[in-house]
Amino acid sequence: MPAVQLVVVDSAEEAAHEAAERLARLARAGGHVALAGGSTPRRAYELAALLEPDWSRVEIWFGDERCVPPDDPRSNYHLVRVALLDGLARLPVVHRIRGELEPAEAAALCEHALAGVALDLVLLGLGADGHTASLFPGSPALDERDHLAVEAQPGLDPRVPRVTLTVPVLSGASEVVFLAVGAEKAEAAARAFAGGPDSATPASLVRSAAGTTTAILDRAAAAGLSPG
Ligand code: 6PG
Repeated sequence: MPAVQLVVVDSAEEAAHEAAERLARLARAGGHVALAGGSTPRRAYELAALLEPDWSRVEIWFGDERCVPPDDPRSNYHLVRVALLDGLARLPVVHRIRGELEPAEAAALCEHALAGVALDLVLLGLGADGHTASLFPGSPALDERDHLAVEAQPGLDPRVPRVTLTVPVLSGASEVVFLAVGAEKAEAAARAFAGGPDSATPASLVRSAAGTTTAILDRAAAAGLSPG
């Protein structure tokens, strides 16, 4: 498996800034970026909008989505809208996963839109159980090699059906960036970034096949990883 570059910083704020710098760089260059949901990336999105308010050369995708309406606070689109889009001077194209639809239909529409697109950057979170996007431990979605996006059942809250991009799509990105902070992620981070590929730790299966993979961690999340 391709190596992971560890970027370990002192605080969650510094980790958010590291991720924001990479997002702003993508925005300036232009390209396709798949964004993460959950709570960790919120600050990174806020900082990215301050660092680079012009995202007119960007097309935004989502690594996964909860199957809820876009104005639902559990929606990953909702997170990106309030933390990033609302702060921009020039907006990107946004390819929202249609969480208000039936999961299978939303996955099919996402797959149709994503066909032929090469992702330049994928920002991913890490669950305490080792999941990333909505690829959960032991899920059949981990073995999907044909579809670009599939329906997934959650292994953690919020326990609503999901749509997730698949391992080959995420690993097809030129730049894969994980962002994880907090002691509760340390055990999963050690398995994900220092262990071998293991379906019990889905994040260990996602590496940029032809580009770079970086894990941005604060010291608490990196506690199980040896320095250097
Ligand atoms: C989601 C995310 C998911 C998230 C992890 C970590 O839809 O929930 O895409 O993969 O990144 O669950 O979530 P936190 O950042 O909230 O810890």
